[in-house]
Amino acid sequence: MQRTLVLLKPDAVQRGLVGEILGRYERKGLGIVALEHRTIDGELADTHYAEHVGKDWYPPLRDFVLSGPLVAVVFEGDEAVQVVRDLNGATDGRKAAPGTIRGDLSLSNRYNLVHGSDSVESAEREIAIWFTDL
Ligand code: CDP
Ligand code: MG
Repeated sequence: MQRTLVLLKPDAVQRGLVGEILGRYERKGLGIVALEHRTIDGELADTHYAEHVGKDWYPPLRDFVLSGPLVAVVFEGDEAVQVVRDLNGATDGRKAAPGTIRGDLSLSNRYNLVHGSDSVESAEREIAIWFTDL
């Protein structure tokens, strides 16, 4: 069993897609370990996206993830990290394959609805940031 961190970003909440997106992970067979609806501050955004702080597109990404409530979830299942990445699809919703969350529901390289940890190591780091009691 593996655990991974998923974020349903503010666009997913604002567009009313939380149920649609959570349902896709659930129907795949992933289990919810923890779930929280929250509005984050800049410090959490910078810690979560540490690898991207300093890139030219980080300030608008930061504004986006601070722009409203999001839903943070820890999912558990066999190879959960890669399974979630595959369900999410490519970063750019315009290029993501049909059938993926981004491919079906996003037309943007920034407002792409979801985050999924990119490795087991990233998942451990991110889960510790978002859910300090896990
Ligand atoms: O989320 P993912 O791991 O697929 O992509 P990333 O390269 O780690 O980028 C993190 C997030 O930054 C993306 O999901 C987009 O929301 C955003 N992004 C952006 O706003 N502009 C870019 N040129 C690239 C990514
Ligand atoms: Mg990433």
